Amino acid sequence: MGMASGVPDEGAENVELISMWVNSAARGQGVGDHLIQAVERWAVESGAMTLRLSVMPDNRKATALYERHGFTDTGEPGDLLPDGMGRERVMAKSLAAV
Ligand SMILES: CC(C)(COP(=O)(O)OP(=O)(O)OC[C@H]1O[C@@H](n2cnc3c(N)ncnc32)[C@H](O)[C@@H]1OP(=O)(O)O)[C@@H](O)C(=O)NCCC(=O)NCCS
Repeated sequence: MGMASGVPDEGAENVELISMWVNSAARGQGVGDHLIQAVERWAVESGAMTLRLSVMPDNRKATALYERHGFTDTGEPGDLLPDGMGRERVMAKSLAAV
């Protein structure tokens, strides 16, 4: 139905949420919510302080989902896009109060 991964950085202070994907037939039913919550729960249990992710700047569905879960723009320059000009948007959420 869908997948997401959590990857700890060195020292495990940050966890990166990557490979977030929901089968098109299952979208709009909260699967994305469950995936984020599962990775977030695991990150908290692992002792991480921050959950981070990168998203394409034009991916409004994904960005709305992340904002709904409390992620905000870090302002950091993300990876360069194939056009050589734009960059991915880097978002993060503190896990301190979770
Ligand atoms: C982005 C993505 C992961 C979102 O997954 P999703 O399971 O559809 O996400 P959710 O169901 O939690 O939320 C999506 C929408 O469904 C709505 N929704 C959630 N539960 C719902 C329900 N029970 N009934 C109706 N709508 C619901 C949400 O309000 C949201 O609506 P909005 O976008 O208009 O605000 C999915 O669209 C996807 O796989 N896209 C392609 C890959 C991609 O872009 N991945 C992200 C890379 S950074």
